[in-house]
Amino acid sequence: MKTGMLRSMIMTLENLQTELKAWKGCALSKTSNPVLGEGNPDADIMFIGEAPGQKEDELRRPFVGAAGKFLDELLASIGLKREEVYISNVVKYRPPDNRDPTDEEKEQCMPWLQLEIRIVQPKIIVPLGRHALGHFFPKLGITHGHGKPQKMNESLTVFPIYHPAAALHNGGLRQTLLDDFAALKEHLDSQHR
Ligand code: URA
Repeated sequence: MKTGMLRSMIMTLENLQTELKAWKGCALSKTSNPVLGEGNPDADIMFIGEAPGQKEDELRRPFVGAAGKFLDELLASIGLKREEVYISNVVKYRPPDNRDPTDEEKEQCMPWLQLEIRIVQPKIIVPLGRHALGHFFPKLGITHGHGKPQKMNESLTVFPIYHPAAALHNGGLRQTLLDDFAALKEHLDSQHR
């Protein structure tokens, strides 16, 4: 991505899609398809996961596999539909065999997420799991930080939640995720009182 080009570009999510397709700044682009975020460009809430998995790579859309189904369920549990929010990932390409993304891959892909945040301007960012949380609060672990809103500045709160896939591996976390989403709803409602 050339910064001069970006500065002169009128930024829209459609532009980002086009630019991302041509981008080769991360080695994962050799083995998988680009997956940008999607949803309401005016959303107040942005959810940020880790990286696309197999289904996301196939369909070129975020959170459309098993973890995405659970995310839809969690959203529905607080009366939200995915079209109403914005859903993205730290890394824009699928790491092979769904391994964790490396620090290098996260750094290389970060400008895309930063541009998405700049365009959508959410009031609340929900990092799903430790990779997304690490970008905002490198020292805050997800085990300690989940469910606790952190004020970044006057206009942005970060509300960390476990990654939905964690509950697919560890059934005990399912209720924790439901509880954290309930707390997120309470936080949202308190902003509108
Ligand atoms: N897990 C993620 O972190 N992101 C996706 O898009 C799908 C699964």
